[in-house]
Amino acid sequence: MIRLGTVGTNWITQQLVDAAAASQQYELAGIYSREAATAKAFGGRNHAQVNYTDYTQMLAQGDLDVVYIASPNSLHFAQALEAIKRDISIIVEKPAFSNRREMTAIQAALAQHPKVKFFEAARHVHTPNFHQIERAMAGLPTVQGANLTYMKYSSRYDQVLAGGRPNVFTPEFSGGALQDLGVYPVYLAVALFGQPETVAYFPTLIATGADGKGLAVLRYADFDVAINFGKTSNSTAESEIYGLKDTIALDSAGELTHVFFRDATGQEQNLSEPALDNPMTPEMVDFARILQDPDAPQNVADYQRWLEWSLTVNQVLFDLRVAGNLRFPADQN
Ligand SMILES: NC(=O)c1ccc[n+]([C@@H]2O[C@H](COP(=O)([O-])OP(=O)(O)OC[C@H]3O[C@@H](n4cnc5c(N)ncnc54)[C@H](OP(=O)(O)O)[C@@H]3O)[C@@H](O)[C@H]2O)c1
Repeated sequence: MIRLGTVGTNWITQQLVDAAAASQQYELAGIYSREAATAKAFGGRNHAQVNYTDYTQMLAQGDLDVVYIASPNSLHFAQALEAIKRDISIIVEKPAFSNRREMTAIQAALAQHPKVKFFEAARHVHTPNFHQIERAMAGLPTVQGANLTYMKYSSRYDQVLAGGRPNVFTPEFSGGALQDLGVYPVYLAVALFGQPETVAYFPTLIATGADGKGLAVLRYADFDVAINFGKTSNSTAESEIYGLKDTIALDSAGELTHVFFRDATGQEQNLSEPALDNPMTPEMVDFARILQDPDAPQNVADYQRWLEWSLTVNQVLFDLRVAGNLRFPADQN
């Protein structure tokens, strides 16, 4: 069993712990929270072996194989670096790091600790429906871009409207719509089409100085990908990938719950795999496969592919922020 530690005690960590349990590959060896009561409650609910209020202590004493980092975005870097230096693998929530400088430092640390694996928790590109999209795309005679939408009203925007500054909506925590939801369609574009040649971003700013929603364009040699995302309104618009006379349609570029293929005559084929009980289970199964057998040729290839996606997404998110004139305090460090 893989010994797992966790950082952050919000709902996403609960979903991850549930996914780890569903995979039957992990044992929950340590819970870290800043608050003893929170650590105890979370740990108790999940039968964790030990709870910590000191992150360094968890890394030093937990005998962990991997730590899952689901703190606010701006804290990922220091927490990830500390784990790598202790030869502990990391599963870092998206977006893993705030900018290229952080990502480069992480790559350097990984080079010095070659046994350590770094996974970015981009759940949707590990799902069976993502693989259905890949297969459907391979059958297209040509690709002419995509229109990707992921927009969900966030209850935390109520706090912004009331004058608050929740982490997810503040530059201090490397937050905003691009980082929080835009990252999903950006990941999809990078995984399916590769690195764009140029990008443009038109953010809609909110009172905190972060982007609440925005429109982005990724320019490729032969086509463009338009991305529409946000946390201050809702959209039920389909996302589409364009072939010649045929189209691949998705219910949402972040959830990938339904995938359809429509041919030139308008005939529709439902390519959707059965709904997942927990959207994080496929990634946790994938990560366990690499951690348990890192040298198997397929695992080496998959890990390298995910790493390249993560590096490219990090660069594209940064380029989009520059294009949209959005800076984070983390950029100055
Ligand atoms: N994959 C997905 O579907 C998904 C969904 C949601 C979020 N996420 C990602 O998960 C990460 C966490 O997001 P979130 O919305 O849960 O963030 P959050 O609520 O702002 O914080 C997450 C946890 O970090 C700790 N924390 C909060 N504020 C902190 C501070 N000022 N200093 C140190 N620790 C602090 C808290 O744990 P303690 O109080 O126990 O220390 C909290 O439970 C982000 O990277 C986000 O993008 C991913």
